[in-house]
Amino acid sequence: MIRVLGFCASPRVGNSLFLLNQALESVKARAAELGEEVEIDTCTIRAKKLAGCVMCQGCMQDGICRIKDDFGELQEKWLKADVIIYSVPVYHMGVPAQLKAFLDRLGNSSFGRYKKIFGEDMVTTPRPMKVIGCISQGIHSNSGQENTILQIINSALISGCVPVVGDMWESYVGAGGWTLNDESRNALEKQFAAGEESARVAVVSSRSLAVRAMDLAVLLRNGAKNSPAVMKDPKYIAFKETIKD
Ligand SMILES: Cc1cc2nc3c(=O)[nH]c(=O)nc-3n(C[C@H](O)[C@H](O)[C@H](O)COP(=O)(O)O)c2cc1C
Repeated sequence: MIRVLGFCASPRVGNSLFLLNQALESVKARAAELGEEVEIDTCTIRAKKLAGCVMCQGCMQDGICRIKDDFGELQEKWLKADVIIYSVPVYHMGVPAQLKAFLDRLGNSSFGRYKKIFGEDMVTTPRPMKVIGCISQGIHSNSGQENTILQIINSALISGCVPVVGDMWESYVGAGGWTLNDESRNALEKQFAAGEESARVAVVSSRSLAVRAMDLAVLLRNGAKNSPAVMKDPKYIAFKETIKD
């Protein structure tokens, strides 16, 4: 069983959710192809209170953040998941403040949670090995999507998680898009329905990101030889060739 969390980082029901839903549909389809059971959960920053970390260091005692707001509810979902797919609108060429607050607090409280088992002298991060993928879209092109995705990839790395591999040509580091300068909530959905090319690419790349996330999660869980994607899908040929008995 692979548990997937779709994490919508927009404060509105909009384009991020549209692309996230495309990815989650693709998760289901890939799970069926791989013969893998999947459980999908979702969460959103919409209408959530997420204050910034104040470095009180309370979480260093026990991993529990001392700020009383909606952080704990999102953290619980995050901790349970094997795969997290973020869908993030670009804000000021990066992630929205609510998501940054969540990631800051998640990082420090995860560190605090396991600190004692490593001992006082060993400064290290736990490795939950969750698979992390990111979709990002903004109102303009080349206006922060890649930077936003890289912020999430960096967060994955520092959190002991595994970023989804890239793919050509639609999805070099993650999935992305832009709304052709349309600020409406359903811009991408409308454009996709109308057959507009950049919306199509955003949808295709969101779907393919989800496929790669599932493949990687199964690989991490079951090992390469028990991973149908690695054994059968030609995209993994170079990896398969290196696997010896
Ligand atoms: C505070 C703020 C900052 C933004 N900064 C950018 C930006 O730097 N680049 C960009 O392309 N879009 C930017 N946008 C536009 C949103 O990313 C865009 O409208 C997106 O489609 C919203 O996604 P949603 O429908 O999921 O909320 C910004 C929007 C807001 C509210």
